Amino acid sequence: MAERTLPISSRWFQAAILTYLVGFCVLGLLAYLAYAQKPPIPGRVTGANRETLFTRADVMAGMNVFQRYGLMEYGTVYGHGAYLGPDFTAEYLHKTAEYLISRYQESPYASSSAVERVQAELHENTYDPVIDIVIWSDARAQAHHMMESYYRAVFASGVSRGGAQAAWITDSEQVRQLTSFFAWTAWTATANRPRRTESYTNNWPPEPLAGNFVTADAVTWSVVSIIGLLGGTGLVLFFFGRYDWLGWSDERRLVQFRPVEQVSLAPAQRAVVWFLVVASLLFLIQTLCGGLVAHYRAEPSNFFGFNISRILPYNIARTWHVQLAIFWVSASYLAAGIFMVPLIAGREPRGQARLALALLAALTAVVFGSMAGEYAGVRGWLGTQRWFWLGHQGWEYLDLGRLWQILLILGLSFWVLILARGLKRSLHGQHYGNMPWLLFYAALAIPAFYAVGLFTGPNTSFVINDFWRFWVVHLWVEDFLELFTTVVVAYMFVLLGVVRQTTAIRVIYLDIILYSIGGVIPLCWLCARALRYRNPSRSEAEAEIPARLFTEGWKRESIADFRQY
Ligand code: HEM
Repeated sequence: MAERTLPISSRWFQAAILTYLVGFCVLGLLAYLAYAQKPPIPGRVTGANRETLFTRADVMAGMNVFQRYGLMEYGTVYGHGAYLGPDFTAEYLHKTAEYLISRYQESPYASSSAVERVQAELHENTYDPVIDIVIWSDARAQAHHMMESYYRAVFASGVSRGGAQAAWITDSEQVRQLTSFFAWTAWTATANRPRRTESYTNNWPPEPLAGNFVTADAVTWSVVSIIGLLGGTGLVLFFFGRYDWLGWSDERRLVQFRPVEQVSLAPAQRAVVWFLVVASLLFLIQTLCGGLVAHYRAEPSNFFGFNISRILPYNIARTWHVQLAIFWVSASYLAAGIFMVPLIAGREPRGQARLALALLAALTAVVFGSMAGEYAGVRGWLGTQRWFWLGHQGWEYLDLGRLWQILLILGLSFWVLILARGLKRSLHGQHYGNMPWLLFYAALAIPAFYAVGLFTGPNTSFVINDFWRFWVVHLWVEDFLELFTTVVVAYMFVLLGVVRQTTAIRVIYLDIILYSIGGVIPLCWLCARALRYRNPSRSEAEAEIPARLFTEGWKRESIADFRQY
């Protein structure tokens, strides 16, 4: 039986556990605060004459319309989503501000300028929690009706608008609900939090007409994070250069390759080739969708003389582009795990190949089933009930219907079982911080952190849904997928004889600590901003694009276009 000792100092193991514990305690606290401090969805929003403009039920139904037609893969709210369509929060806000200014300019005896009056009005929080009502002025109520007419014209248009499908949402009631949802996001973007001078979203998106300016806090912390990023990278490079024992520069090993004919493969390793065939096919379809998505940016209404948006509108092509990236990467991870296990264990239990092929068949069914569901959902063929389970769930990166999502989680868990079955003897008697266990934990984290997406729901506030979406995107994609890669690559190097096991384990622990500090802790920061809801500093790439969007997104539609409705 192997000895239960760790070949390196156990302080590495303790430090890794500690960083995770601290990171997840903070994340847990933020989850609590997200629920406790989310912006309210008022029971009713009325005009000054108490005419109901929309209700909480309308906002939630509107969010569901936004989800089921895959609008987050066409445009954005709060800057989150795809970049061809407008940011609906910013668009609603901008057009409302323009309309109000033009109305107030008609009253020359007002004590303040029209712009100041609009800014003050939009920032005043008229929500009364006792009666659960927000009251707007008559002018703002009229602006809302204008916006309803505007979105009716946009979504019911029989002519394809630059990559969007023609006659996309023809049901007038659904567009009314959708506009209520956009109106609520715009309200949270400007109404000041109680006893604060900034809005629920920390004045995001910036909109000078509405008096939304980036706060000093946002600028300060953005600069601090960039300095932290550059300084942290410098420190890591310094320590790697200074201390040889952190990396593998002290290794002086000769790799000896065996001739191919002397290498024999276990049956499950042979089955892996089919995973790679499927992953390659998915990659091909993904990049073709990427090409189409890019083409839509250059020539929105025409694809070499053919209007392809009638068959494959932008939002479906982009959904597939993003989802297939996740699918082929996952398929390659599954393949890598299954291939590695017999190398580590030195043997393979009977039936592993059959289990691996069953897993591949199930994965393929989920991939193509979910893609077909997304297509049918966005086309409106799944009605108002089945869309959530079978169609497009509506969240970028978590687009697949709930049934497919659950099946994918089950498939990934089944993969962990296949790995555990193969690793059983290697795990037995090993220290819980040693390499076989690290591989097992890294594999287990993949289904576990994808499953967090199940906390989103059709009856849950957008803020909470986006909070959990952030968990999946940032913890899965920016932490645990990298962790699995690190462990697999480290294992390969040890098995090839390129590095010693102690070096490999130390590098894995160093990566775990760095990913925790660089992945989990910054996610706390992102989630904290999701709470405030939300300042523009995000990651560098994410920050630039919404900023561009908010400054340019509405240029296409001037107030003159708006007035015609
Ligand atoms: C021929 C290759 C590719 C082309 C032409 C392409 C094109 C594009 C375009 C134009 C967008 C922006 C969509 C928008 O306007 O919102 C995009 C987004 C994206 N692509 Fe690709 N892509 C390619 C390959 C890939 C690959 C290989 C991956 C990942 C493995 C990938 C992952 C993504 C992701 C995650 C987004 C969303 C980014 C975001 O939301 O900020 N793409 N792609």
